[in-house]
Amino acid sequence: MKDEKLIVALDFHKFDDVKNLVRELGDSVNFYKVGMELFYGVGPGIIEWLQARDKKIFLDLKLHDIPNTVAGGLCALMKMGADILNIHAAGGFTMMQTAAETLREESEKRGVEKPKLIAITVLTSINQDDWKGLGYDSLKISEQVVRLARLAQSAGLEGVVASPQEAKLIREACGKDFLIVTPGIRPAGSDINDQSRISTPAAAIQNGANYLVVGRPIRAADNPKLAAENILKEIAGA
Ligand code: C5P
Repeated sequence: MKDEKLIVALDFHKFDDVKNLVRELGDSVNFYKVGMELFYGVGPGIIEWLQARDKKIFLDLKLHDIPNTVAGGLCALMKMGADILNIHAAGGFTMMQTAAETLREESEKRGVEKPKLIAITVLTSINQDDWKGLGYDSLKISEQVVRLARLAQSAGLEGVVASPQEAKLIREACGKDFLIVTPGIRPAGSDINDQSRISTPAAAIQNGANYLVVGRPIRAADNPKLAAENILKEIAGA
């Protein structure tokens, strides 16, 4: 069963663990997320290894720096051929716009397909206490998420990463073509871990998410392939 709405997070730091999980999931999973633990731990060779197995890649390195540095970093990452790259919307409009324009120019120059560029809005692990600790006393998390999604869209980005609880508001604000990628997915009855603003796979799809990023509910399951297939069924039925 192939379904590109499911992106499995490969949060490992050893290559062997990746090989075991990707082999075990086989054709059920076609899209993987490589985050900082794996990229810093194993290096760029992981991208080639996944591409050689026809897997699509979301390279989740969450760049957040001044415009010139982020644009330069993205150009270097683009050469590796991932399908989705991301940056923090909190870097501001100018940083996002420079990043989007630079990626567009570079991909045209090299004659390669431009990777999708999406922005992190507010991390799905942030709860109300964290939020207040950051100084946002009178602003709701959901209001800030929608504001950052609009800002990312106006800067020329193709989508955002957000909690499934905010997907509906983003869809209403940014329209049907804007990509919404939602981590914080927990099938009914599973462990929440360090996530806060979570939902089930079905609810995320019903609220308008295009892609669901799932890590521990699959990785830590007794039978990861069965866990992935159950999530795929829930997606298909939503
Ligand atoms: O194990 P779990 O399903 O919680 O994994 C979620 C993945 O999504 C992790 O790799 C995490 O880094 C990532 N992520 C997130 N919240 C964001 C952006 C990315 O949880 N806002």
